[in-house]
Parts: sequence; C-alpha cells; structure tokens
Amino acid sequence: MAGITIDRARSAGTVSRYIFGHFAEHLGRCIYGGIFVGKDSSIPNVNGMRRDVVEAMRNLKVPVLRWPGGCFADEYHWRDGIGPLEARRRMVNTNWGGVVEDNSFGTHEFLELCRQVGCEPYITGNVGSGTVQEMSEWVEYLNSDGDSTVVRERWKNGRKDPWGVRFWGVGNESWGCGGNMRPEYYADVYRRYQGFCRQYGDHRLYKIACGPSDGNLEWTETLMKNAAFCMDGLSLHYYTIPGGWSHKNQALTFSREDYFETLALAANMEKIIRGHAAIMDRYDPEKRIGLVVDEWGTWFQVEEGTNPGFLYQQNTMRDALVAAIHFDLFARCCDRVFMANIAQTVNVLQAIILTEGDRMVLTPTYHVFDLYKDHMDARQLDCFVQSDRIGTEKHAVDAISASASEKDGRITLTLSNLDPEKAREVEISLRGEEIAGARGRILSGRMADYNDFGRERVAVRAYTDFTLKDGRLTAVLPPCAVAAIRL
Ligand code: AHR
Repeated sequence: MAGITIDRARSAGTVSRYIFGHFAEHLGRCIYGGIFVGKDSSIPNVNGMRRDVVEAMRNLKVPVLRWPGGCFADEYHWRDGIGPLEARRRMVNTNWGGVVEDNSFGTHEFLELCRQVGCEPYITGNVGSGTVQEMSEWVEYLNSDGDSTVVRERWKNGRKDPWGVRFWGVGNESWGCGGNMRPEYYADVYRRYQGFCRQYGDHRLYKIACGPSDGNLEWTETLMKNAAFCMDGLSLHYYTIPGGWSHKNQALTFSREDYFETLALAANMEKIIRGHAAIMDRYDPEKRIGLVVDEWGTWFQVEEGTNPGFLYQQNTMRDALVAAIHFDLFARCCDRVFMANIAQTVNVLQAIILTEGDRMVLTPTYHVFDLYKDHMDARQLDCFVQSDRIGTEKHAVDAISASASEKDGRITLTLSNLDPEKAREVEISLRGEEIAGARGRILSGRMADYNDFGRERVAVRAYTDFTLKDGRLTAVLPPCAVAAIRL
C-alpha cells in the first residue's frame, strides 16, 4: 500500500494562485475562433468574446492570462491593434501558419477579455523587432493617467481610465524566436528596455525578464548576475515532448512506453526548476524574484489534416496526469515559483478547451485545473509520499503524485495514480493529528481517453472510494486518476 503523510507544521510557503495561469497567443485558432469571434458572429458572444469559453474560464477562476505571445509577441506592434477596426494594419503571421492577422483582436479586446474572465492580464512586449519607444508608449497607453498625446489616443479609442496592467514581460524566448540573443547581450537589452517601462502612480509593474529554456543554467546565471536588481520575475519555458522534436508522439495514439516517457519528462521538471532556483538563491537569497514558468505543457504532432503551424492537438488522460504532476511540483517549489502559464488556453498544444465552430469541449486537462483550484493562495503543506516506482526499463515514475495545502482551516489534498493498469490503495494520514472527515472529487479513465465534440468520456465525478478509521483515510485510486480530497 502507498502512503501519504501530510505535515501541517512544515510548509514551503504559499501556493501562489498565479501558478494556475494561462497563455493565449495569436496562434492557430487560440484567439481567433477559439476565444474571439467578433461582435457580428452567430456564435453567442459578449463584445466579440465567446460566451461558452469565457464561462468555462470563469469557472476555473483563471487568475492570469498571458498574451499576445509567444514568438508572436516579438513581431507584434501594438499600435496595429488599436483604433477603428477597418483602419487596422494587416500582417501575415509568419511564425504560425502564414495566415493573415487582421489585428481585430488588440489591446482593448484583450483587456475586455480579462475583464470578462475576471483575471489579471500579463502582456509580453516586443523586444525582438520593436523599439524601446514602442514598448515604453505601450505601458504609458495602458497605465498612465497623465494628459499626454499617448493617453489622449486611449481616450479617443474609448477608454478613459488606465487599466493598470501589472505583469509585464520584456521579450519572449529572446535566445530563440525573440531575437537569437546571447545571454550577455539580452541582459543589457533587458536593462535598457525595462528602464523605460515606467511606473505610473499606483500602477506598479511586475517586470519579467526572459529566462531560460529547459536546463540552460548559463542563461539564468548571466541574467541573475547582470540584471537581477531590475527584475521582479524571470521566466522559464519547459515543454514535455516525448520522442523529442524530430519524433514527437501523436496525441491520441501512443504506447505504454510513450506514456511513461511523457510522465517521466513531466516529473523531470522539478530537477530543472531546482537547478535554476539554486542559481537564483545565490543572487537573491531573500527570494524576491519569482520564477515565472510562463510556458509549459505537452507538445505532440498536430492532428491529421490540420495546419501544421496551428499546433492543434487532442488531449487525453495522459495530459491530465502531466498537468497534475506539474501542479504538484510547482507547489513543492512554491518558495520560488510564483507563476505558471499553460500553453495554451484554447485549441493550441495542451489546451484546456477545444472548439469547432460553435461547439466547445472541455479537455481532461481542464478538469485537473478544476480539481486543483482550492490550492490557490493556500499555505502549502509538506506531503511525504511513499509509493512504488512504476514504468518501463527506460522510463520510471513514482506511482503516486500528490500535493497538499491549507486554507481557512481546511486541507486540500490532490493525489494521482499514474499507474495505467492497476488501482492503488493509499493510506493518508495527518502527522500528529486525526483526520475528522473527507469529501472528494475524481477524474479517471484509460490513458488514451479523451473528450470529443458530442462525446464526453472524461469528467469529474464525486469520489467516495475511501474509508476513515482511527483518524486515517484509506483511499482506493483507480488507474490513471487525479483526485482532490478536502479534509
Ligand atoms: O507555445 C508555442 C510557442 O512555443 C511559443 O510561441 C514560443 O514561445 C514557444 O517556443
């Protein structure tokens, strides 16, 4: 039997609600069609935003949404996306599918989306092909209430008050699609650009420098050494890509070996975070600077017949477990991880929502966000997990993944059974205390189960398969399952 001991006396800190954040890029059908359909669409919408998608996001209490990219951010010129629709500049989205971008979704539309969802905006400014002045004026347009020409432009476009955007990214993947820079060079560029992103009144920017990809420790070292004094956050991108870039898995058809490789890669992120965190600790022992994992998730082959540049993939219970593993490890590293944004919200990569015309489907990953939402801003609790290692000769993982937190006197335990074949019994205890009662919800299925339009296989249901005796809980988790138990 596996065991989980929750220790209320030991905590790494607060599980920031921002680790349940999202990312929506001008990529494929994420923004256009997936979120924004325009006011004149026959798809039910409010000011152009799909009602169904906004409602689904509200239900998750999405705390923050990153936009407009991704790689798109470094060729996005914000002035193209403001003012009368018919006068907006058109461009070809050379990063993603070569389609025409008509800029009908711009700054005002994005902030209207955030208002409807009830989340905070996180905007990534253009460093790769944009000027310091352009970025500086975007911040002024968003946050200033001085009587300047830039602010008057905002008034003319129908917005009197500043929005007060807080999260501000200075470039995206500046080591790659954002400009192919070396870390020394980017550190200087960052110092320069961020200096002209002004703080207006009470609207304080939380400035996020472009951080490394995967295990690129040299990037982190150089950035921390040269620019820590003027950053609030450092980003990190890590994708789970079984088979690697050249032999990516399919999203729906995969073997047991692929399954374990995927989960092992996801679990490996903890080592990667701890590697970067150790460097950050040397330059920032007070842990003032947050690690912002602003892109994470699975990356598979695109679905057959879809535009390869649209990155549209289906989503199975395998993805759900990847999400659970990530949330558990983000919680363990909550003394450093301040934010994380899944890539991406709708119709792209590990999406939480898929759409087709006016239809919408919630993926297994969506349900994991739902199961974990009670952790937001709760006090993380140490969770000692004892379980078998399972897998194949090449790829092994712990059979049970878990995390716990406490808020308002109630404990939330989230736990997953990564075993695709066997149910597992888990004994759950509270160190030095007795568990008085429990209520649970669960998501389970076979490893390749997924939801399709008009055919929803995977959904959250009540979970009652546990017994309470002598203050300990014995729970039976079905194969491939993610559960949330409130103690
Ligand atoms: O999420 C898709 C792409 O992956 C983003 O545009 C880029 O930042 C990353 O390489």
